[in-house]
Amino acid sequence: MSLLTILRYPDPRLHTVAKPVREVDDRVRRLVDDMVETMYANDGVGLAATQVDVHERVIVMDTSEQHDQAQVLINPEIVARSLEMAVAEEGCLSVPQIYDKVERHARVTVRALGRDGVAFELEAEGLTAVCVQHEMDHLLGKVFVEYLSPLKRNRIRTKMLKKTRDEAKAGA
Ligand code: NI
Repeated sequence: MSLLTILRYPDPRLHTVAKPVREVDDRVRRLVDDMVETMYANDGVGLAATQVDVHERVIVMDTSEQHDQAQVLINPEIVARSLEMAVAEEGCLSVPQIYDKVERHARVTVRALGRDGVAFELEAEGLTAVCVQHEMDHLLGKVFVEYLSPLKRNRIRTKMLKKTRDEAKAGA
């Protein structure tokens, strides 16, 4: 397995719309395993393939307390959404150290293929519901900061560009 490089906002590649996976083969399983490793190495609860510059409908997440229950969702589709909405604070590995509130459906039912290529349904609520909607947005080329005001978004963009520049200077 190997660690993958995570694209940082406002990298334009984060706005690419992902294509469905045709077949869950060894290549896809390797991608999934590398994504899980990368997510854990960066203390994330979710990662979309878009964020590692692979534009296919693959997400991994782990919202368990012990961080020992990785979930793999290939070609995820939301099949039901609650009318009830909920606001939660979100962060993103592509927008490090930025957290803000986003409103989403409180519960969603998602149909996807697992790492074994077998279809399953996930009824998500709480953090898992937030995470799956956040990651599925990535597959559509949408980053959570796009829910924020233009003013906030511009501040974040400036901050991220500066951070990337400073790191390049420091040779990081
Ligand atoms: Ni994210």
